[in-house]
Amino acid sequence: MVGTPKKHFLAFLLLLSFCSLLILLYSPHPNPISTQTFTLNSHSIPTTPAFSLTIKVLTFNRLNSLTRCLTSLSNAHYLPDHPVHLHIFIDHFPNQSQYYIAPKPQDSLGILRFIDGFEWKWGQKIVHYRTTNVGLQAQWLEAWWPTSDDEFAFVVEDDLELSPLFFKYLRALILNYYYNASNFSPFVYGASLQRPRFVPGRQGNKMLLDSTSGLFLYQLVGTWGQLLFPKPWKEFRLWYDDHKAKDIKPFLDGMVTTGWYKKMGERIWTPWFIKFIHSRGYFNIYTKFLDEKSLSVSHRDVGVNYGKTAGPDSQLLGVNSLDNNFLEMKSLSTMKWYDFCFREVVPGRVVRNLNDLGSILPSVQTKQTVLLVSLFGVSEAVTRNLLCHFERLNIWNYIFIGPATDFLFDLARRGHPVIDADQFLNNIRSYKAIGIQESNARFMKDILLKAYVVKKFLEFSYNTWVVDGNMVFVNNDTFLGYIDSTDNFYAVESLDLFFVRNSPSALKVWADDFVHDVAAMLEKSSLPRDSRQFVSVIAKRLEQKRFTVKRIDDNSFGMKIGNQKLNQTLMANKKTVYWSRELDMDSIQKRLQELSLWVINNDFSCTAVVCHKS
Ligand SMILES: *[C@@H]1O[C@H](CO)[C@@H](O)[C@H](O)[C@H]1NC(C)=O
Ligand SMILES: *[C@@H]1O[C@H](CO)[C@@H](O)[C@H](O)[C@H]1NC(C)=O
Ligand SMILES: *[C@@H]1O[C@H](CO)[C@@H](O)[C@H](O)[C@H]1NC(C)=O
Ligand SMILES: *[C@@H]1O[C@H](CO)[C@@H](O)[C@H](O)[C@H]1NC(C)=O
Repeated sequence: MVGTPKKHFLAFLLLLSFCSLLILLYSPHPNPISTQTFTLNSHSIPTTPAFSLTIKVLTFNRLNSLTRCLTSLSNAHYLPDHPVHLHIFIDHFPNQSQYYIAPKPQDSLGILRFIDGFEWKWGQKIVHYRTTNVGLQAQWLEAWWPTSDDEFAFVVEDDLELSPLFFKYLRALILNYYYNASNFSPFVYGASLQRPRFVPGRQGNKMLLDSTSGLFLYQLVGTWGQLLFPKPWKEFRLWYDDHKAKDIKPFLDGMVTTGWYKKMGERIWTPWFIKFIHSRGYFNIYTKFLDEKSLSVSHRDVGVNYGKTAGPDSQLLGVNSLDNNFLEMKSLSTMKWYDFCFREVVPGRVVRNLNDLGSILPSVQTKQTVLLVSLFGVSEAVTRNLLCHFERLNIWNYIFIGPATDFLFDLARRGHPVIDADQFLNNIRSYKAIGIQESNARFMKDILLKAYVVKKFLEFSYNTWVVDGNMVFVNNDTFLGYIDSTDNFYAVESLDLFFVRNSPSALKVWADDFVHDVAAMLEKSSLPRDSRQFVSVIAKRLEQKRFTVKRIDDNSFGMKIGNQKLNQTLMANKKTVYWSRELDMDSIQKRLQELSLWVINNDFSCTAVVCHKS
């Protein structure tokens, strides 16, 4: 008997609501870029996301190590309703003695026999026994290709021992930093349970930590118990393939791991991953517990990584050593971020209005001075190259100003402060009063914008260098010797470089009506192309009002490059290298390469990590 249409409709409604419930429950993992959020109504039951975790154990020929490792995994605390799978990858003996450890086939049998007898109650147990020796790099890289965005891998080399609490901790990390949208960042690639130890940019020196416990973010991978998030791992695998195919080596000058790679070559994998993380600007979550204890320790047994046994690197956290707030996780916004020098990185400094500027500037300035670097008409490669020079020269008091592009926001994400020019200008009331016509050229806006920012810097009592991004700093005493205490304004015309001293008299000159005068001047005059720069317009206006603008000799200050090959001897004693905005990218790169000032690679990232005394 067929039901009435009404019944059909009811059934349809029921099905529909069931489907929407399903969609809600299985909604994809958080996406921080989308501003759309699903709010579950108060009737629905809060559910824990269903994700899968697989422990990937990498082993070779160390039966005692493997026994200790698997026993600790087996003794850990799991949850009855949350399966945890175990994949064991057994590397094969080399077919001849290419290693310092002589192959002993009976060891292999011992390992297989032990694994066969090893019972895993918490999920699937899968064993991958290789037919040839592939080494640690392939063991790691081939251990995982995620089948979904809700799959996680925890990689464990066989000389590790895990705390009974490691799983509960990993689970809490995943729930808090992957599934809680307010703490998720696509730039976090996982979490390491090992003790934070060394700084690869400082010859591998021990890291100096305060004695408190807690979580922080650090770029370095921690191979003694590393949790991997699916998306960045897949990205890494593709990046690796691409670079391998082009025969690009994972060299990163200044890093202790580059030395390892030169010695060990493809036997290790970390230099590849480190290079990838460096170019993408990604971060890892690290745990820090009291007395350097950790949830995962390496016994550093003799093997591929150690010529002889070095012993456990720290003490394991036992069940009793923990207090009640052990699983309490900080919000991402309160955590600190550190680069390969263990230098603090401050991401997300985007200035959109005058208030933002006031709160960000104290963290930017050094000695009350700020470099305002203009990115209008500056390419991405040139900007990244400039940043590498800032790092090399230990210059950190810069703030970029440019149009609201993805690139600008990515700079901010990586820890470089930026001013979103479009929003900033729209948020200035007096600018709206000026009412610049849409038809007016962009350059007018840019000049006005910089004038406003300088005014703000003066009000906050900072000296300002207005600098164009189309240049390279050669050394870090660039401005010394040019500025004395007699004048307020200095200009280097050809470089579009301008200095404004923080002084009561400069502040008095640089008032709202000064900016209005500049705007009026821009409106009236049809400026010749080569004087449409900040420095020309501002200097002209100041001089009209009989203020002194001290000119710095272009020739002593910078060297201009063009499309002709250079005479290197002219370089001596120059502070900067610059070029006209019209110069093509190819020539810029060639000339800078000739001067060894092109310091980025094909990924647009610095060829070196440079750490300075903090
Ligand atoms: C075994 O070693 C020989 C000599 O080094 C090499 O040519 C061969 O490819 C190796 N076989 C396997 C299966 O790795
Ligand atoms: C998500 O994280 C925020 C910030 O840390 C926190 O206040 C909130 O309680 C978390 N939500 C859940 C469901 O844990
Ligand atoms: C200046 O730059 C050099 C590299 O050219 C660097 O070694 C030095 O530490 C820098 N000086 C300061 C004060 O940062
Ligand atoms: C480079 O410049 C120096 C100094 O002006 C000059 O003596 C020299 O002849 C020039 N070399 C070339 C190859 O042009």
